Amino acid sequence: MTKDEIQQLVLTTLDRDGQIADSKSLGVPDQLELLGVLNSLLSMEVIEYKPIDRDLWVLTDEGSEIAEHGSHEVKVFNAVPTGDVGIPVAELQKQLGAVAKIGQGQAFKNKWIGKKGANVVRLVDSVEDATQADLRIIRETANHPDAALPPLLRRRKLCDKQKITTYAVTKGSKFTLNVAKQASELTMEMLQSGAWKTLSFKKFNFDAEGVPPTGGHLHPLMKVREEFRQIFFEMGFTEMPANHFVESSFWNFDALYQPQQHPARDAHDTFFLKDPAATSDFPAEYMDKVRTVHSKGGFGSTGYGYDWKVEEAEKLLLRTHTTAVSANMLYRLAQQPEFKPAKYFSIDRVFRNETVDATHLAEFHQVEGVIADRNLTLGNLIGFMDQFFRKMGIENIVFKPTYNPYTEPSMEIFSWHEGLGKWVEVGNSGMFRPEMLLPMGLDPDVRVIAWGLSLERPTMIKYGIDNIRDLIGHKIDLDLIRNNPVCR
Ligand code: PHE
Repeated sequence: MTKDEIQQLVLTTLDRDGQIADSKSLGVPDQLELLGVLNSLLSMEVIEYKPIDRDLWVLTDEGSEIAEHGSHEVKVFNAVPTGDVGIPVAELQKQLGAVAKIGQGQAFKNKWIGKKGANVVRLVDSVEDATQADLRIIRETANHPDAALPPLLRRRKLCDKQKITTYAVTKGSKFTLNVAKQASELTMEMLQSGAWKTLSFKKFNFDAEGVPPTGGHLHPLMKVREEFRQIFFEMGFTEMPANHFVESSFWNFDALYQPQQHPARDAHDTFFLKDPAATSDFPAEYMDKVRTVHSKGGFGSTGYGYDWKVEEAEKLLLRTHTTAVSANMLYRLAQQPEFKPAKYFSIDRVFRNETVDATHLAEFHQVEGVIADRNLTLGNLIGFMDQFFRKMGIENIVFKPTYNPYTEPSMEIFSWHEGLGKWVEVGNSGMFRPEMLLPMGLDPDVRVIAWGLSLERPTMIKYGIDNIRDLIGHKIDLDLIRNNPVCR
């Protein structure tokens, strides 16, 4: 039935009978389609309607099968021969299969059959298939005169309840047989011809439910990033502006007292930019101090004693760590007239020219934290790391000495992984060297503790992903992103 046909049927029936007590009598196969028509007539006040909710009983597949071919218990009864000998249970099973098991119980309960030794015998001469008869009644009328019966049959999974809604319809204040077709959209043609002036427009239904949007899901990495951010904020940190991927070698390496011939500064490990290849936008005075500390030493250090070149520092690159941002922030902190303790963090992308494999990509997200205060000690760093990882749900951490050009001492952080049964590296940390901090102009008693870790590793552990390419890139399963909750 088309919408127009349904509308015509509703209107002519109302016109003839004055009302429609129950729309069931109209015989419209699709109640949703009918509802659409009723709503549109309602919005024009042509009709009014009230829903009638009703429970219907419908047969399950098994119920239909029994209505058609008889109940299990009757099949069992029929399979038991007349006379005193009966039939062995095993034989019954062989003949009827699964039906025997289900049918026997009911047949015993009905006292149709009984046990005699190892055999089953008939206890009555004949039986009536009441279940089949009952199911047939339900099949025909969607109900049963004995109201207690359908629930019992439902317990045996032979029928089930279904809610259906039909409608009682009455005439509205503007009832008419000739409902003008309403326009649902204002078109260019209507505007050009002026037809919009006389046309009747469909009212907006502000109660209609929208289609749920399919987009707008956070990637697991972004969910875990959000958790980390909350931890940092809880602990009083400020977020660093880490939203630029291109950095100068100066901030990425030189400011961090990383010598110019360090292997990390090789094109094998770092992506350098071709165009533009360099920048010369640096604080001159500070750059001079960096040159001095690298080439000649100073601030109590002998330096590296090599010929520091500005061209090397000017080279642009994709930052290899967010510690470049930390260096910049600490330099700015040092320019304040008076030192104030600071806690900074960032969680953003870094890039390394690495061979891509199951656990490495050429880019990843780094979680970076920095605390600057007077007279901090290694004890502060260890204590703080313990607290920080505890908040992430990692309780058991140990430290191992390591080397970074910009920290002394430096410590790798390991955590016990229950699943893997071994210590896994979760971060790298240390206290920034005086060769890095003093040229910036920070007071000599200001110490800076810092640490970095990847966002990918904890995310993969939390989401049980063992190949990084299942987490990032064109091979990932979009359902993973849609359906995974934020998890700890
Ligand atoms: N930049 C280091 C890395 O990329 C992490 C780190 C940050 C280490 C700060 C010490 C201090 O692994």
